[in-house]
Amino acid sequence: MKFVSVDAWPSEARVDYRPELEAGNVLFFPTTPFVFSEESQSFLRGLDFAGGAIHKNIAYRPASDRVTGTEANDSQAERLRGIMRDYSRVVVAFASRLLPEYAAHWKLDYASFRPLEEEGRDLPLNKRNDLIHTDAFPSRPTNGDLILRIFTNVHPSKTRNWVVTDPFLVLAEKYARAAGLDEIAAASASAGGKLWNQSARLLKTMGLPVVPRSGYDRFMLRFHEYLKRNTDFQEHCAKYRFNFPPGSTWLTFTDVVPHSVLSGQHALEQTFIIAHRSLATPENAPISVLERLCGKLLVERNRQQQRVA
Ligand code: SIN
Ligand code: FE
Repeated sequence: MKFVSVDAWPSEARVDYRPELEAGNVLFFPTTPFVFSEESQSFLRGLDFAGGAIHKNIAYRPASDRVTGTEANDSQAERLRGIMRDYSRVVVAFASRLLPEYAAHWKLDYASFRPLEEEGRDLPLNKRNDLIHTDAFPSRPTNGDLILRIFTNVHPSKTRNWVVTDPFLVLAEKYARAAGLDEIAAASASAGGKLWNQSARLLKTMGLPVVPRSGYDRFMLRFHEYLKRNTDFQEHCAKYRFNFPPGSTWLTFTDVVPHSVLSGQHALEQTFIIAHRSLATPENAPISVLERLCGKLLVERNRQQQRVA
């Protein structure tokens, strides 16, 4: 894997970065390629979490223009919402220019501000980000689409320190079976599995808090945890380290690139769900890799409008 540095942006000739990203590389901008004011950054860094009204995990939902992680309903909360809205807009405008083929079909997911020092956080294993993992969202199944995340380090002086390893394709060949791929594939292809999924979808339309999950999404959740629990993998996998300087921006498919963050504080991030059909190399996508490995479909085709034939 590579950290691909983009030193000139915007560049004279258009470069299609999709193959680099889909192969499991990280695209790195030493200088943040969009404007996000110093005033907004220092407001975010200065947020006061002591009273408990603002949580330590701030998420902005562009579709509903809401910030979650705050119970405050005052001018500070309103300002926070405005800043997260502005950040989301500028990052989306930048990404649309950089990756127009993705932008034509993507789903805008949440943005977040990560205010805590990552080093030494006391979290349950499944939430630890200092262990190498691929991302999967329990509440938002992707049905085979990909998770693209853009990060910006807004700390005034500290780097954000990542370790990544070889892409999904390599890890899946080694570990997907041990993580339970064949059982999950068989269960989701079975009559019982299909019936369960249909019922879950029905219950969801009735407003019940169930998450209908494809076999693919069940596997990706399982794999996230499998990698975190696998101490041999954590110790011995190939490690590529990168310390992202203050003021830099980087993006990667966090379900293709196994990653961890060892230290750093104050990062902004925007997530996009990238349609499988807009990929330059769809055969590298985790869904395609897994279906090849197990010889079964992991997402029902009628749930999967986005897939290329
Ligand atoms: C993660 O997605 O695991 C965390 C990355 C970061 O916050 O830098
Ligand atoms: Fe992650």
